[in-house]
Amino acid sequence: KRIAILNGPNLDRLGKREPEIYGSTTLADLETQLSAAFDGQAELTFFQSNHEGALVDKISALAEAGIDGLVINGAAYTHTSVALRDALLGSKLRAVEVHISNLYLREEFRHHSFTGPACVGVITGLGLEGYYAAVRFLLLEA
Ligand code: DQA
Repeated sequence: KRIAILNGPNLDRLGKREPEIYGSTTLADLETQLSAAFDGQAELTFFQSNHEGALVDKISALAEAGIDGLVINGAAYTHTSVALRDALLGSKLRAVEVHISNLYLREEFRHHSFTGPACVGVITGLGLEGYYAAVRFLLLEA
């Protein structure tokens, strides 16, 4: 099964940015650990961008490629982006939204997700474990 993992703005600085919220594991380490954890079960591909349009383009390309599932942490664009929501809806991809932190324990503006309704489910607040849980779920259903 081919599963793509997309990370949005500032997640390139995972491990360095606000470690009290997001922890000290880097994105490179997370990607290596995910690949190892699902070795032989899934073909994971990774993409991170700080640019909304680049994420839209990637979702479109993944839809064309016909992958089996998508894990998306749209980061701040979660709370702002109709374009990402439309890209997900138009892709018909089975997607799971992941947030490292618990959005509902944070500022009010993080409580709303534009992209969540375009996903099968949303995981929030389980730390990096959310990515593993999302992949496991997509493998069950794929
Ligand atoms: C985040 C939560 C967002 O509100 C924030 O903008 C992020 C990361 C999370 O994983 O907890 O950049 O998506």
